[in-house]
Amino acid sequence: MIVRMLAENDLSRLDLASRPRRNRRTPAIAQMVRETQLQVEHLIYPLFVHGGSDNQPIDAMPGCTRWSLTGLSQEVGRAAALGIRAVVLFPKVDESLKSPTGDEAYNPQGLIPQAIAQIKAAYPQILVVTDVALDPYSSDGHDGIVSDEGVVLNDETVAVLCKQALMQAQAGADIIAPSDMMDGRIGAIRKTLDAHGFTEVSLMSYCAKYASCFYGPFRGALDSAPKQSDKPIPKDKMSYQMDPANGREALRELRLDEQEGADIVMVKPAGAYLDVIYRIRQATPLPVAAYQVSGEYLMIKAAAAVGWLDEKEAALESLLAIRRAGAELILTYFAPQVAQWLQGSD
Ligand code: PBG
Repeated sequence: MIVRMLAENDLSRLDLASRPRRNRRTPAIAQMVRETQLQVEHLIYPLFVHGGSDNQPIDAMPGCTRWSLTGLSQEVGRAAALGIRAVVLFPKVDESLKSPTGDEAYNPQGLIPQAIAQIKAAYPQILVVTDVALDPYSSDGHDGIVSDEGVVLNDETVAVLCKQALMQAQAGADIIAPSDMMDGRIGAIRKTLDAHGFTEVSLMSYCAKYASCFYGPFRGALDSAPKQSDKPIPKDKMSYQMDPANGREALRELRLDEQEGADIVMVKPAGAYLDVIYRIRQATPLPVAAYQVSGEYLMIKAAAAVGWLDEKEAALESLLAIRRAGAELILTYFAPQVAQWLQGSD
């Protein structure tokens, strides 16, 4: 009911043709005119797996776990029951398996192919997304091969990434997501997959991936940060990931990924790069994904833990903002929690 406080000819009544508040007057009207929806089918759930038999809570990422292979399948089952359709897998690899060239990345008996097989056997309808990059397998802690001079080599790395992607496709991955930021890797991986008959396997390119401090907790979780050694190893990833100062350059990466055959393009991180999501959304007909990364997740978790923010409200608002900026898909550690919240439970 509208409360009429002012008399009809009261002089204090403003003569306004437009009163935007009319569309916010009741929840029914507000929901009818809502421009953006956040639904469980927009979410991709990142999961960590290790070779041990225990499920290890990750201290640096409260609410996240390094799953055993068995634990991983169970967690995928829980997520599937909540309506989540896609997971992305990240391995924590034993130090003894790491090398400068990251060859464990394409071991067909490795952790990731085992994980894919288990998930596909138990939940064939779940989309399995795999990460392509050498950092979990590199003894130098880089996404590519580091030369003796301390240069992250592009073309030599792409050759290994193609083997990694092919192995993942052979193991049953639905969507392969190169996160390494080497030049030309989307085209090279597409060619390799097609040459081996995997024309149905999709490529989700980390198109605009920035050299961000917000990945810090993730690198701790996987022990994948750049390492110190005798050779001059770059301390950061600025020579291949994008400079946070650059927005226009994302459109250059986008053009290349489109030409090279990407099916989905991603922006990462998400929250501090909403303008980049928006620009890419305007510039391409491809679906756009965004990765709400570990540091973004933890800012909300930490503020909620000390009572400064409401976790549910902050998480949902941050994800809605990413959708509003133009991302169809969001990779987020909040995925199962959001699925529960959207179902109305706390
Ligand atoms: C590495 C990779 C990173 C993340 C996903 N894949 C870290 C990095 O580039 O150093 C970060 C994800 C997160 O912070 O949640 N290929």
